Amino acid sequence: MNHIAIVSSSIRTGRKSHRVALFFRSFLEENQLASSEILDLAAYNFPLFEERLRYLASQPAGAIEFAERIKSAQGIIIITPEYNGGYPASLKNVIDLLADEWKHKPVGIVAVSDGPFGGTQVIGQLQFVLWKMGAYTIPARLQVANVAEQYDEMGIPSDKLSANKRASSFIGELLDCVALNSMKRG
Ligand SMILES: Cc1cc2nc3c(=O)[nH]c(=O)nc-3n(C[C@H](O)[C@H](O)[C@H](O)COP(=O)(O)O)c2cc1C
Repeated sequence: MNHIAIVSSSIRTGRKSHRVALFFRSFLEENQLASSEILDLAAYNFPLFEERLRYLASQPAGAIEFAERIKSAQGIIIITPEYNGGYPASLKNVIDLLADEWKHKPVGIVAVSDGPFGGTQVIGQLQFVLWKMGAYTIPARLQVANVAEQYDEMGIPSDKLSANKRASSFIGELLDCVALNSMKRG
């Protein structure tokens, strides 16, 4: 079974986008689509970037483990909030920390906002950064608007049918990319 790492990027006090990470972990496991785990950047609590991991004499706690989890996952889901039209510093911090781990990695982006637009602006920016890293960002994207109304603290959606339908087509495309990638690279 494929393994999908879900990066929960917000480290904000009172964050809401983590609810969507919880939803995706349950969705993948309940539907037996893949094994999964959440890589919670708030829990890792990485210091501000100084240099790429491979050049650091003193590596932040958890950094090697984080790198290994990104490397070994067959696919990644990035849950990102939109802050001022872009991605949070916490996310760029770990994208820059790694290098080859992102290369040829299928990545699906889920943009989250607490307003009505669902993080439309962050997606293009994050796709560009991940393209520079050599990741395979999938064309499907998922935008969650009004997150606090749409998901409770446990990640249970208020409209289960609609959330599952959207997740299903998004995950379908991610898993297609994972399958093509493993045919090519084993
Ligand atoms: C610094 C900051 C900037 C924000 N900028 C945007 C924005 O550009 N577009 C938007 O739709 N929401 C914006 N919001 C609202 C976020 O979408 C909302 O706080 C959401 O819950 C963020 O995810 P989080 O709670 O996991 O941090 C912003 C929030 C913060 C804290």
